[in-house]
Amino acid sequence: MGFGRKIIVCLLMIITIGCNEIDGREPVLHRVGGGKYTWKPKINFTQWASNEHFYKDDWLYFGFDKHIYNVLEVNKTNYEKCIDTGYINNITRGGRDVFQLSEERTYYFLCGRGFCFQGMKVEINVEPLELPLLPPPTIPNKAGSSRNTNYSIFVILLVIALAWIFM
Ligand SMILES: *[C@@H]1O[C@H](CO)[C@@H](O)[C@H](O)[C@H]1NC(C)=O
Ligand SMILES: *[C@@H]1O[C@H](CO)[C@@H](O)[C@H](O)[C@H]1NC(C)=O
Ligand SMILES: *[C@@H]1O[C@H](CO)[C@@H](O)[C@H](O)[C@H]1NC(C)=O
Repeated sequence: MGFGRKIIVCLLMIITIGCNEIDGREPVLHRVGGGKYTWKPKINFTQWASNEHFYKDDWLYFGFDKHIYNVLEVNKTNYEKCIDTGYINNITRGGRDVFQLSEERTYYFLCGRGFCFQGMKVEINVEPLELPLLPPPTIPNKAGSSRNTNYSIFVILLVIALAWIFM
């Protein structure tokens, strides 16, 4: 590899790592119901959702038997009444379907064909991302230490990259 190309590769690496550092958070994939095929009746999705935190750009994964169930995004009124007509979005594809939570709002999903009445409905509240607060100087906290770790990794990679270029 030529000297110039090495530099470009290194710069790209550094930019990528640096940008992730600034952005702070990678989108998370949430398996609805907690498992691989858990979009099905008799699961308490309210309880499941209450143990998760959803942020903008996260993904939902619905795993289910597409011959029996479906996934529809509906409005609040229809969610409460389990009405599957006049839906907003049909998420159903092959039964291993994902949906990106691209807005900071509450989403409502249900399964049509009557399964909503058996509990197949979930309300997803997309929370605003907290702005990173500066930790108080004397009390170390988790966020602060992970930030330092990331920073150390960044510096180590930078040193390796520079060594690679000039060796
Ligand atoms: C689901 O769990 C929530 C919270 O734990 C509870 O309030 C609710 O009654 C449960 N719903 C059903 C249908 O069991
Ligand atoms: C929800 O959707 C139904 C059917 O499309 C519609 O009749 C109803 O007015 C909507 N409700 C709200 C609050 O938007
Ligand atoms: C949703 O989309 C799937 C796949 O395109 C289709 O098979 C199904 O009939 C649709 N369901 C509704 C209720 O429109």
